[in-house]
Amino acid sequence: MRTLNDLPDLRGKRVILRCDLNVPIEDGEISDDGRIRASLPTINYLTERGAKVIIISHLGRPDGKPEAKYSLEPVARRLSQLLGNSVEFVPETVGDKANKSVSMLDEGNILVLENLRFNPGETAKDSEARELFAGKLAELGDYFVSDGFGVVHRKQASVYELAKKLPAAAGLLIEAELKVLRRLVNDPERPYVVVLGGSKVSDKLGVIEHLLPKVDSILIGGGMLFTFLAALGHKVGASLLEQDQIETVTGYLAKAKELGVEIVLPVDIVMAAKFDAASEIAIAKANALEETEFGSTGLGLDIGPESAALFASIIEKARTVFWNGPMGVFEMAKFAEGTRVVANALTKVSGLSVVGGGDSAAAVRQLDFKDDQFGHISTGGGASLEYLEGKEMPGLEVLQ
Ligand code: 3PG
Repeated sequence: MRTLNDLPDLRGKRVILRCDLNVPIEDGEISDDGRIRASLPTINYLTERGAKVIIISHLGRPDGKPEAKYSLEPVARRLSQLLGNSVEFVPETVGDKANKSVSMLDEGNILVLENLRFNPGETAKDSEARELFAGKLAELGDYFVSDGFGVVHRKQASVYELAKKLPAAAGLLIEAELKVLRRLVNDPERPYVVVLGGSKVSDKLGVIEHLLPKVDSILIGGGMLFTFLAALGHKVGASLLEQDQIETVTGYLAKAKELGVEIVLPVDIVMAAKFDAASEIAIAKANALEETEFGSTGLGLDIGPESAALFASIIEKARTVFWNGPMGVFEMAKFAEGTRVVANALTKVSGLSVVGGGDSAAAVRQLDFKDDQFGHISTGGGASLEYLEGKEMPGLEVLQ
């Protein structure tokens, strides 16, 4: 893959830098700036060498038109605070204002253009529309640096087509992410344990299928665990259930047995009367979720204390751990304990521990863990999963 070393003589060059600055923003406040911080090494590398840095990114999933709540303006402000330097924000991605700001940019200075996804060409299915938008972006720069690891699994104009229009290279974040993720794919130290949570089984099916032959244990928490319990014939009350995935999950359980891989399911669950931070709760055995006072209307919102201890004991003995997806509704304190215990167990792993992406990264930070307590916190949610699945990654292939 081409890297920053392949871009000679950056001084005075206009460098378009694709970052993934898609951070959670609530009421205008950035609640986790991990992805902005992770972008700093490449930004500093470029400014220190006198490049004129034009940062582009998406935020959320606006529908090809401007929407105030998805503006990158607060992100540009935070970036400026983190750098201790002024960062200009341009309220459009391409057009006269963008051209003018870029033409006035000095060596070593930075500007952030407005959300790429305010333009329909960015995410268009039609490759010609993407080409057209990428062409407009390319006019703004001399070089292209791709550093938005979280988005390299997307075939989008600023990730794929743009990289073909200018001399292009991967930035330091992509290099760092790949260095770690390759260790998970190529000959990981054993025991190798994968912990999967989050709400949707369907999001994780590919990775389960791909990893089954490679790992020693897969621990299942989060909303997806109920589809596994249902596959074993247990009732799950009103908990999240993907009925149409039960058959596939049954197949995975059988395949795991055949391969001698452990799929470890929770043995107890925190049940709630309703989806509410103040709800009454009860701990139920995983095979008897409807036997609490809430009956068949109870909702499982976290793994129980016995399960958390069981998961922790398996994780702590592992030499390689990859974790994607919270164990419960960690945003509410009553349902955060499973996630906290699992995160804490990861901090004790003597080999490599990797926290994969979006929600899990936000969870560990919200629960006051520090980034350096883990081997690596990936900035890619979907991207790190798809990398482990061995899927095609358009944003990486185009940099080869
Ligand atoms: C992410 O949050 O995983 C990345 O920023 C990609 O966002 P997307 O799933 O909306 O493409």
